[in-house]
Amino acid sequence: MDISSELQVTINDLVQPGKGILAADESEPTIAKRFKAIGLTSTEELRRAYRTLLLSTPGIGRFISGIILFEETLGQRDDNGKPLPALAIAQGIVPGIKVDKGITPLPGAPGDNVTQGLDGLGARLKNYKALGARFAKWREVYPVSDSNPTMLGIEVNAEALAQYAAICQSEGIVPIVEPEVLLDGNHTMERCSEVTEHVLHAVFHALHRHGVLLELMLLKPSMILPGKECTERVNVETVARETLRVLKRTVPAAVPSINFLSGGQTPQQATAHLDAMNRQCSQAPWGLSFSYARALQEPVIACWSGNPSQVAAAQQVFYRRAELNSLARQGKYDPKMESTSL
Ligand code: 13P
Repeated sequence: MDISSELQVTINDLVQPGKGILAADESEPTIAKRFKAIGLTSTEELRRAYRTLLLSTPGIGRFISGIILFEETLGQRDDNGKPLPALAIAQGIVPGIKVDKGITPLPGAPGDNVTQGLDGLGARLKNYKALGARFAKWREVYPVSDSNPTMLGIEVNAEALAQYAAICQSEGIVPIVEPEVLLDGNHTMERCSEVTEHVLHAVFHALHRHGVLLELMLLKPSMILPGKECTERVNVETVARETLRVLKRTVPAAVPSINFLSGGQTPQQATAHLDAMNRQCSQAPWGLSFSYARALQEPVIACWSGNPSQVAAAQQVFYRRAELNSLARQGKYDPKMESTSL
């Protein structure tokens, strides 16, 4: 198969009605933070147990088309010796891999960062592919203040995302391009819109310069929200309208799907916002779906608590959260469903 056919098959597998992506690619420090919140110390064994729980949830492939894994998970096996990526494949889920190596301050742009990991990326992708990965993720973060992100920050981050995406496509790996405008801070929703519009313009300009095929990538943006410490209150319809407005101005129709990150919203908020967008824009040129980490996993980790006897109950919680997001992806969610079973 030639490379573009290979990429197209992966896109077709990832972009399906009623389905979204699970991000289970927390780096070691991040998963340690999540475990610490429930009183657990992160060990390789505990991470293996937890990710086995997610990947082996019965029937989860009805709602999840792809799972983004952390490098460690790609090489781990379940209790029966089966590689964890094979558990995903057995459920019709495409395994993916986070390939960035985290952020570092960007000299010359105080307050901004840039993501590392481009050196040797092509060779790493070959290895990941051999272990079953068919798509990748790379995240750039944009802190918001009166002076951030800077013009330099916006340019450098866009360039890194585009280089990453071009390298992925040359290796037959579908890139998820993730520019995350952070929720931290007291900025208004209007400021978030302004920043996100600049960021996305720069990202798509850079993708064009690098010859990235927009039909064969996915975008993973943040939603338009006021900062966490802002006193402004906005309703679900406004978040959806404002997010769609910015995306329509900036994201070419050739992009097959926009899979949002949750960014620190509660699971219910992230689901309600996705639902409202699908209701308001049922004819959107791109799919509007999810690629959540916290909004899918928070209640699952809490239920599991590292206790083997809680695995089945936690899997039910995961199944239900994924089901509600699947409904939201179709504009069929109702907050009343939070307290009832279907
Ligand atoms: P959240 O949904 O928790 O924001 O995580 C998404 C993600 O993949 C971060 O890179």
